[in-house]
Amino acid sequence: MNDAVQHREGVEIADGVHWVGALDPDLRTFDICLHTDHGTTYNSYTVRGRDGVAVIDTVKASHADEFFARLESVADYDEIRAIVLDHLEPDHSGALPELMRRAPQARLYLSPRALGLLNAVLKPADGDPPPSVETVDTGDSLSLGDRTLRFLHTPFLHWPDTQCTYLAEDGVLFSGDIFGSHYCDGRLFDDRVGAFDPEFDDYYRQIMRPFRRPLIAALELMEPLDLTVIAPTHGPVLRDRPRRYLARYRQLAERPRIGADSDGAGPSLVILYASAYGATARMAEAIAAGASDQAGVRVTHHDLSDNEPAALVDLIDGADGLVIGSPTFNGDAVKPVWDLLSSLNTLELAGKIGAAFGSYGWSGEAVRLIEERLRALKLRVPVAGVRVKLVPCDTELVACRAFGHRLAEALTGTTDTGRVIELEELG
Ligand code: FEO
Repeated sequence: MNDAVQHREGVEIADGVHWVGALDPDLRTFDICLHTDHGTTYNSYTVRGRDGVAVIDTVKASHADEFFARLESVADYDEIRAIVLDHLEPDHSGALPELMRRAPQARLYLSPRALGLLNAVLKPADGDPPPSVETVDTGDSLSLGDRTLRFLHTPFLHWPDTQCTYLAEDGVLFSGDIFGSHYCDGRLFDDRVGAFDPEFDDYYRQIMRPFRRPLIAALELMEPLDLTVIAPTHGPVLRDRPRRYLARYRQLAERPRIGADSDGAGPSLVILYASAYGATARMAEAIAAGASDQAGVRVTHHDLSDNEPAALVDLIDGADGLVIGSPTFNGDAVKPVWDLLSSLNTLELAGKIGAAFGSYGWSGEAVRLIEERLRALKLRVPVAGVRVKLVPCDTELVACRAFGHRLAEALTGTTDTGRVIELEELG
């Protein structure tokens, strides 16, 4: 571990710029549902200028003591003239109320959208003086005398309030959650810590992937910048060829969809199902065969129990259509289906089509429940689901095949004869 980190001191990451964050090596679950094998860090930074000190973000409330110890090692409270809040999620704003109490002269700099969240974070009592606040946008800057902090509005990365801050003279980008990793290593810098590529990519998948378009817009603001260091709010400080992290994010965000807009190939349909006795599996095969009859549509079908959920989520991310099959157990779809469906809110799904099917014994609610969930996830459900009571007969398999074919037509927007399908035909 870096000696300064061990002794709760600030760590210089550029001339006059210090990391004053906190380590949380034992954390195993972040934000209720994100598993981390390597804990995380809550990164906060200070920038010293001729006219005072700026603090950029704070830490989770539970780690405030560590943050204040580090902050006091590099600045006096009465030197702090600015507190820049790039993101108000509690892992970065937890120590803010106490910091404002210790440095009451400091002005807050935050995005216009963050302003609406600030009172919810501070919960001021009646009679408390309003904080000194300035909202900033792309193009705005804050001078510390000989150093300038410029602001980049980067909404939805990872909340609507988020912004990035750029120290122009030194090429330091305080990026907020972007380029973060849930990876705690007291050696702090990317060229000193262990290999964290999987955690870097996983952070993108878990946190940033739903916001692909805002992310690409943010990259367009960042790519022209001279960069010596990227200082995110989680994980290692990135100083070894920092531009490669931008390139990796662009690669992840622009991963071509498996569809007509990528390499000239036709759209793709992914069929995923669970099956206890093979009835729903036989339906899946018939649906796949019917969809494959439509020229240009690429079709895959997989048994959920044979695949890791993360791989299936990636598969769905690249597909144009998703068909889910489930038997009905006790009036519901089965658990592997819900596990998958509950993993899809990390994807941008609007614009894809969805559908459901399944075998059932007596009530058969699974298809309707899956369709409702798909609609809630913003998929279009253009063809009513198909159900079969227990074992599918030949006639029912023909119906499944026709169902698959209609879904493929919905994907291509044309019938076999080349006739363009109107949206209202699909319901
Ligand atoms: Fe690390 Fe979105 O907070």
